[in-house]
Amino acid sequence: MEAPSLGNARFFHAPGVLQVVGLTRYLVPLIGVGGTLKTFLKLMTRRRQFYGVIDAGRLVHTGWIALGFCRHYHVETTSAVMGPIWSDPGCRGKGYATGALIRAINQLIGSGIHRFYIDTSEDNVACRRVIEKAGFGAAKSVYER
Ligand SMILES: CC(C)(COP(=O)(O)OP(=O)(O)OC[C@H]1O[C@@H](n2cnc3c(N)ncnc32)[C@H](O)[C@@H]1OP(=O)(O)O)[C@@H](O)C(=O)NCCC(=O)NCCS
Repeated sequence: MEAPSLGNARFFHAPGVLQVVGLTRYLVPLIGVGGTLKTFLKLMTRRRQFYGVIDAGRLVHTGWIALGFCRHYHVETTSAVMGPIWSDPGCRGKGYATGALIRAINQLIGSGIHRFYIDTSEDNVACRRVIEKAGFGAAKSVYER
């Protein structure tokens, strides 16, 4: 899929812990030492991947990918569940979430994954818009958490 420009910002995709170690200096100011260690541990399971956008030396967008599992609904083991995603409140509406989501999906397609899930709450207008802009169709189902 064609991904919209991120301007001067830089997208990264971390399929494993090795790719995220170099990002420690961006992670610690955002989520602290504990959060950073938790990120490393999650990536060490190899069931999750991490991606994001760095702008002007700051991590301004983060996204998680779960490979073949979801705690809330059934997914195929060969699929990827995108999210949660987050953009720095001061950097919203610049297309970071959409641009990064499309880039992450493109990377996963390149590694042989062809089925993607993403969900959000009904009242999350911004996230629903991101999902729409990233090319997902209309919602396929609704579930209660
Ligand atoms: C959802 C979220 C990641 C979007 O990040 P973002 O970087 O601003 O996303 P983008 O810039 O790619 O797109 C946002 C779109 O939502 C639209 N939007 C934002 N708030 C909106 C609102 N209240 N009503 C309507 N549209 C809205 C923006 O205008 C934009 O659409 P456009 O390009 O057509 O104008 C961000 O709002 C966020 O971090 N929210 C808190 C965490 C969260 O809810 N995460 C999702 C649940 S997993």
